Amino acid sequence: MRIRRPFDAHLHLRDGGMLRAVLPSTASHCAGALVMPNLVPPVTTRASAQAYRARILEALPPGASFEPQLTAYLTDGIDPDEVVAGFEAGDWLAAKLYPAHATTNSAHGVTDVRRIDPVLAAMAEAGMTLCVHGEVTRPDVDIFDREAAFLDEILAPMLQRHPTLRVVVEHATTKAAADFVLQGEERVAMSITAHHLWWNRNALFQGGLRPHAYCLPVLKRERDREALVAAATSGHPRVFFGSDSAPHLVHRKETDCGCAGVFSAPTAVPAVAALFAAHGALDRLEGFLSLHGPAWYGLAPSDETLGLDAVPWSPDVQIDTVEGPVRIFLGGDELAWRAAP
Ligand code: DOR
Ligand code: ZN
Repeated sequence: MRIRRPFDAHLHLRDGGMLRAVLPSTASHCAGALVMPNLVPPVTTRASAQAYRARILEALPPGASFEPQLTAYLTDGIDPDEVVAGFEAGDWLAAKLYPAHATTNSAHGVTDVRRIDPVLAAMAEAGMTLCVHGEVTRPDVDIFDREAAFLDEILAPMLQRHPTLRVVVEHATTKAAADFVLQGEERVAMSITAHHLWWNRNALFQGGLRPHAYCLPVLKRERDREALVAAATSGHPRVFFGSDSAPHLVHRKETDCGCAGVFSAPTAVPAVAALFAAHGALDRLEGFLSLHGPAWYGLAPSDETLGLDAVPWSPDVQIDTVEGPVRIFLGGDELAWRAAP
């Protein structure tokens, strides 16, 4: 089958040698992506977003057509005027809320969402989307409950304080998140990764401890995965693909305190196709991968297409970067569908 080229609504491209190593994988399948701002230092100014976009474009393989959309990294002190001016000028398409210390490079994130109420008010006024990493960070909340607690304690009150703010629950991992979005207001959407559709939390302990299945928000129960699959394959326009492909060097994952992140750029699109095929939902695949995300953000869908075939293949185990190898999601396994650009 052929579909319009996908839009990855949540992607970590990093910088430097890592950017050059991972970008071709996404660009070979996707027409564009919403690129996360958790660099070191984070993308908090229009100038840093413009410079990062230029580095991404420069790292593209010759002839690739790929449109990066950037995000602003919200901090306690960020200036609302800078955020909105960057949106209106096209420097970034959305802003990302990382609760401080929730995940990789979130140390500069927001310590209390009420501190950014003026920014959220300005974004609502401008029609700009807030992308949330939806996890509370309080140590008394169990790690598997952090997303559900965020929805109740942080997101619901925030939506009440800002009645027109548009929000995407990024990398949704729970039935609670799926229910929140599907039963909620039209101004709330969700992105879902390939790995949260594929694995439940048993994958973290399959025959031993599996650092390459560790990501944040952490994998959840089978009933959560089933709710995510149901949401993704439902054809609902406020549910779309965001890979959260997040490369980390093998030695930074296979260690005492391993990094969170699954590098899925080479396999996420064919894995989603295989999953939709297994659920008899191929008629909804293009909506999830290629149409709903752009529509949410007011972008045109790609006018180019990507081929997908039910031809089994075995993805490479890892890619090599100048800094070392990075493990690939489902690398070495057999995948029932392949992308044939
Ligand atoms: O698993 C994750 N990796 N979750 C995040 O929220 C961040 C990401 C990363 O940047 O490595
Ligand atoms: Zn992410």
